Amino acid sequence: MKWIVNGKKILKEHEPLLNKSDLHEVKSFHESFEQYKQTPLVKLDELANFLGLSNIFVKDESLRFGLNAFKVLGASYAIGKHLSQKLGKDISELPFSALKSEKVKSELGNLIFATTTDGNHGRGVAWMAKQLGYKCIVYMPKGSTQNRVNNIAEFDADVSVTDWNYDDTVRFTAEQASKNGWEVIQDTAWEGYTEVPTWIMKGYSTLAQEAIEQLHGTIPTHVFLQAGVGAFASVIASIFVSTFEKNPPKIVIVEPEKADCFYRSCKAGKIEAVTGEMNTIMAGLACGEPNPVGWDILKCCTDVFVSAPDWVTARGMRVLGNPLKGDNKIISGESGAVTTGLLSILSETKYKDLRETLKLDKNSKVLLISTEGDTDPQIYRNIVWNGDYQSL
Ligand SMILES: Cc1ncc(COP(=O)(O)O)c(C=O)c1O
Repeated sequence: MKWIVNGKKILKEHEPLLNKSDLHEVKSFHESFEQYKQTPLVKLDELANFLGLSNIFVKDESLRFGLNAFKVLGASYAIGKHLSQKLGKDISELPFSALKSEKVKSELGNLIFATTTDGNHGRGVAWMAKQLGYKCIVYMPKGSTQNRVNNIAEFDADVSVTDWNYDDTVRFTAEQASKNGWEVIQDTAWEGYTEVPTWIMKGYSTLAQEAIEQLHGTIPTHVFLQAGVGAFASVIASIFVSTFEKNPPKIVIVEPEKADCFYRSCKAGKIEAVTGEMNTIMAGLACGEPNPVGWDILKCCTDVFVSAPDWVTARGMRVLGNPLKGDNKIISGESGAVTTGLLSILSETKYKDLRETLKLDKNSKVLLISTEGDTDPQIYRNIVWNGDYQSL
């Protein structure tokens, strides 16, 4: 495992991604969905005690909208914003029931949504498109599992697996969409395409707003966040450091070592991509190009970037799924558990330096987000039951 202290962290230079009125707008939009319910913030007291910490809180996103991952928060808000922009209305006039109405559909006509995904984002887009009665086309990178394809096809999307990695598939989708007049709902930005990804990031804020409410005044000292393109981590980090600006938590970003573009960017002092195949079990984090909006936030807010091998998340999945007596169990998938896996090994002598750098001790209150459940149940069982993460 490799890690790097972010010498360039300057909180003063951080521009919060959302102001108070944006935060309210996003949360109200999500609350208008009939499926909306806060996901649980689980307190793992026994684990905290075992690891010599004060508290561990885990936000369990496996229960989000029945979709087993947090990603639908971004896809749904971005589609809501995109459609309200097309209609020339404010999103506050278009709650879920209005967006689903025949009146809105007849004004907008037959739209086709398109996206690239390693699983969860595409599932969110497909789900939202189906709820609103539109067609959806989804491309997935080489190596995507059949279960993850099925999870998306379940919502009547047209799903294909390409021969390329995630970033090349994103480019292919954008080309196809521009040829065919599809609406691209992508969770990463590139030159000339920043509005939708920024809406997607803002959509994730509901999760952080809920967590802050559920913490009932406790201010976390540390927030550990996993990153793929970094859209999720940057918005959550941004909210936590700006909400608690007098006492900001330390931010730890964790990536798979095969796709550690933020770790490398921190080392280089500028955006650095990972190219080629990214064979990691953390499918949702297998992205080699940082979202530039996300990088601008994370370079100012992050304390330490960690590049973690697959066994770290396999360990996190087992720790959460097989808790100490008295703690609740959380089913967490490969991209959901890496932060727990990391925290769980930091009490070992081998990682003493990192623990000390992060000032993790008996006063620490750590927030972790389990961003997905067992989105591929077969892989989940193989890792948790058979202890096998290498043959995937
Ligand atoms: C379960 C899960 N967690 C975390 C992430 C990381 O999000 P981002 O790509 O915005 O960094 C993803 C992305 O797909 C995901 O599916």
